[in-house]
Amino acid sequence: MLNDIQTFFNQFDHENITTQWLKAGQAALQVKNGNVPKWSDALNSIQCQERGVASVTKPYICIQNTSIDQASLTQGLQQLMPWRKGPFLIEKLALESEWQGDMKWERLEQHIRPLKGRKVLDVGAGNGYFTLRMALEGASLALGVEPFLLFNYQFKAIKSLISNCETAHLLPIRLEEMAPVAIFDSVFSMGVLYHQKDHMLHLQQLKKMMAPEAELIIETLVVDGPVGHTLIPKDRYARMRNVHCLPSIKTLESWLKEAGFANVNTVNNCKTSTEEQRRTKWIGENSASLQDFLDPIDNDLTIEGHPAPKRVIVIAQH
Ligand SMILES: C[S@@+](CC[C@H](N)C(=O)[O-])C[C@H]1O[C@@H](n2cnc3c(N)ncnc32)[C@H](O)[C@@H]1O
Repeated sequence: MLNDIQTFFNQFDHENITTQWLKAGQAALQVKNGNVPKWSDALNSIQCQERGVASVTKPYICIQNTSIDQASLTQGLQQLMPWRKGPFLIEKLALESEWQGDMKWERLEQHIRPLKGRKVLDVGAGNGYFTLRMALEGASLALGVEPFLLFNYQFKAIKSLISNCETAHLLPIRLEEMAPVAIFDSVFSMGVLYHQKDHMLHLQQLKKMMAPEAELIIETLVVDGPVGHTLIPKDRYARMRNVHCLPSIKTLESWLKEAGFANVNTVNNCKTSTEEQRRTKWIGENSASLQDFLDPIDNDLTIEGHPAPKRVIVIAQH
């Protein structure tokens, strides 16, 4: 499953490092998972389709291809549900993911350095929707890392339908499994920080992957409050498990400075809407989304009584 990455990595220096990343990825693929036969079947059938040219026609990553067998493709993609990240339009097939990724990209694209020619690391890439967007922006390498296996199958499936995203790759590993090397010009950590038990360690690990002039883009959940304030949910947050710590904006900025980042700048701050995170048939008929995770009487609160999700984008330099 990782052969094309191996070939791609051969053009870069640091062969010992990229070999370690690949080995970690290959080991992750050996872990027993009862869904693998179903996902492999789906991937095999999707890979039989012809490739088309991808571009962005808002709000979709569009793949133009008149020779798509839509019935077969729909069946294959359904076997890879739930589709959290997207959306994609494959000829006439609209794959409406739970998240409208385009809305996040719109909030950040005007603030980041242009990705053309840059090596980009997308940590916690999900199914690589943003990794593909980074490649479409002209990144010389758009490397996503994502430990959740299904998302790696989704990425492979979508990429196999595209002829012009050769620089996008996804490895099934966690950031902390990567031997560090300071080669990336832009490092993204979006929707990942609050899942970390040790947020400072995550920031330090991101920094180790950054070239001297590189830019860090952090997108994460925050709460209102002064510097030093955090919310540590006792149990779930908006029905999510593994949400460890939500800082105030000032606290987040102080963490970044403490981790040694310069020019820490919060460029966007917004409440997550049910337009951006919505129920669709691609997450399963009975699956819940943001509207089910909010207090039905007061949408400023989660169902557990915490402040409703607000997200920021913070940009910092190495
Ligand atoms: C909320 S999703 C965000 C996906 C995408 N980046 C976005 O912004 O929509 C967070 C993803 O990060 C992954 N993740 C969590 N901790 C990670 C780590 N330490 N290294 C790499 N990925 C991680 C999770 O498996 C999950 O798919």
